[in-house]
Parts: sequence; structure tokens; C-alpha cells
Amino acid sequence: MRHPLHSICPYFAMFPEDFVARQIFAYTRRGDTIFDPFSGRGTTVFESLLHGRPAAGVDINPVAACISGAKANTPVLPSVDRRLRHLEGLQRKAGPLATPAGDFFSACFHPQTLQQLLFLRARLDWEHARVDRFIAAVVLGCLHGESHKSRNCLSNRMPRTISTKPDYSVRWWTEKGYTAPERDVFAVVRRMARYRLRHPPAPLRGAVRRRDARGAAAGFPGLRRSVSLMVTSPPYLDTTHYAEDQWLRSWFLGGPERPTSRTDGDDRHTNLGAYWRFLTEAWAGCAGLLREDAVIVVRIGGARIAKDDLLAGLRRSLAAGLAGFEIRTLHAGSTTAIRNRQTNVFRPGTTRQRYEHDFAFRLQ
Ligand SMILES: C[S@@+](CC[C@H](N)C(=O)[O-])C[C@H]1O[C@@H](n2cnc3c(N)ncnc32)[C@H](O)[C@@H]1O
Repeated sequence: MRHPLHSICPYFAMFPEDFVARQIFAYTRRGDTIFDPFSGRGTTVFESLLHGRPAAGVDINPVAACISGAKANTPVLPSVDRRLRHLEGLQRKAGPLATPAGDFFSACFHPQTLQQLLFLRARLDWEHARVDRFIAAVVLGCLHGESHKSRNCLSNRMPRTISTKPDYSVRWWTEKGYTAPERDVFAVVRRMARYRLRHPPAPLRGAVRRRDARGAAAGFPGLRRSVSLMVTSPPYLDTTHYAEDQWLRSWFLGGPERPTSRTDGDDRHTNLGAYWRFLTEAWAGCAGLLREDAVIVVRIGGARIAKDDLLAGLRRSLAAGLAGFEIRTLHAGSTTAIRNRQTNVFRPGTTRQRYEHDFAFRLQ
């Protein structure tokens, strides 16, 4: 049965846990270490831990790092309840916090809900404290969604997968006459924490750090030459912009009050040459972690790049990034159609069918 922590918070371009489980059973034994340099919502790390494999990962996006990190190192429910009681007491006594400028936040959240969110945003030390990270991840999963259908969504109506842009959202809510629901954040988080922690935890604890894949090995000196399997899915060429798509969740973790599109081209990759250079550097950043016979499984797609070109580019980038290893192709690609996504409704031009491919390589 699916562990309820898997779906703590949706994330764009996530792969299903049974895909990860198949790779774990095909290429590892209990006790072998597994790594994901593009952790996303943490499926590789969490599924590995559930199957008794030590696991770790990195992701550059704070939302991904928070969700993955919460799954990798989960607290027990009494600690979560205790921390929530403490925070709730403090929030009741605290004076009102300044609300962000503009009309988005007051249209998105009921005033009371917004005050609780602002308080938690200021107080939760999600990067360093396990219980706070778990609470933050639960809030991220409830922060926005179809609140007319679920009492566990804190916002005015929005998709749960991505945050829509502020001006668009306000215009849409105004036109339709939709208003923000009154929600008690502490009650919602308490309820959802109980629900997410209702199954036994993974038998092992792992770690996911907020870090660039290009420096992954430096973040885990204890894992040097110990990783048997990487199961990963890098950002796809020309597909999405993670920082922008998750802007409201990023705001809750301390980010800016408006979406920002980064200009260094490092998140949404649009230039083919730069894309392969990036992946070469990412594999190089993981090289120090890998055992000499490690297997690397990559799920990859892209709007305008054919399967053969993806395989050739992957082989080249792996050979260049993992100099000193020979790369043998184990699996030259099973292909799946990317399912129609909720976000397509909000993105003209994304309804065209797209595919992603799975490739496996062994170092020797
Ligand atoms: C396709 S998603 C991974 C999804 C993941 N397999 C899952 O199931 O959720 C790609 C991830 O790469 C991350 N990313 C992009 N550039 C990165 C970098 N330089 N270092 C580490 N992570 C990066 C993005 O933030 C995103 O979470």
C-alpha cells in the first residue's frame, strides 16, 4: 500500500514510487546506498529508505529540499503535536505581523489564516530542525489548492500542483467572486500530520540537502565512493521553471513575495549546448560518491529533443563528467507518455503530447 508520506505535497515532474522500487530491486541489495542529485519531492530517497537502503539526495529548490528532507528524516507525531502546541500558544500572544504589499495575499488568504502563516513563516527553522521541517512540509502541501473541495486547503481556489501568478489569480478570483476561506492553520496541520504519520516510518533515516547537484559530493563526505545506485530525473529541456511554478510555496519558506524568473538559465534550460554542459557538471559533482560499479538510472524528457539524441547526449555527458569510468548502457530507454497535467489548463501550448524515457548505465 502507498505510504501516505509520498503525497505530502505535489511537485511538478515527479516520478512514481513504483518506478523507483523497480530500480531498487533490479540493481541493489538491502544495505546498498542510493542517491538522487535532483531529488524533487524525494521519491527516490524515501522509497529507498522504506526498502532498507540508506539514501540521500540534493535539490537546489528550497521547496523540493524541504519536502524531500521531511520524508527522509521524519519526526514522531508526539514531537510534532508538542511543537504545534508551543507555536500556537506563541502565535496567540504575538501582535499582528505586517502583511505583504499588494492585493494578492489578502485575496488569497483569510486575514486570520494569513497571520498564522506569517507567524509560522518567521518561526519555523525548516533548514535545520527536523520537526520544523516536517511542519513546514505539511503546510506546503496544504498552502494552496481547491479549497472549495477540501477543508485542508488554506488558500482561495488555486491548483494544488503549481502556484498561479499573483495578478492572474486576483483577476480570476475577482471575476468569479471567489473569496478566501477561513482556515485555522494549526488545526489543518495537526489533522494532516496525524494523517501523514499514520503508517510506520521508514526503518532508516536519510538526508536531503538544499544544494546544487554540481557540488553534491562535497555535501556528503561520509558517502564517498559508497553509492551503488543513482535514480534521478534532471530538469527537462524547455519544460518547466521550478522556482517560478512553486513561487508561493517558496515564499512560505522565506522567499520573495512575487514570482521571480531567474535569468542565469540554470533552472529552466532552453539552450541545448548549455543543457548538456550543465548535466556534465552535475555528473562530475556526484563522481566522488559513486562506487566503481555503480548503476545510474535517468528518467529524462524534453519538448524538442528526440529519444536517440537524449541517449547520445546522456552517454556523452556521463563519459565527460565521470572521467576515469567507462559507461556501459544497460537499458536504452523505455518510453512513457507524460500524463495530461492539471497545470496544462493554465499553460496554453502545453497540451501537446510529450514523452519521457528511462535509461540505465553501469560504471566499469
Ligand atoms: C524533474 S525534477 C525531479 C523530480 C523528482 N524525480 C520527483 O520525483 O519529484 C528536477 C529537479 O531538479 C532540480 N534542480 C534543477 N537544477 C538543479 C541543480 N543545479 N542542482 C540540484 N537540483 C536541481 C529542480 O529543482 C527539480 O526539483
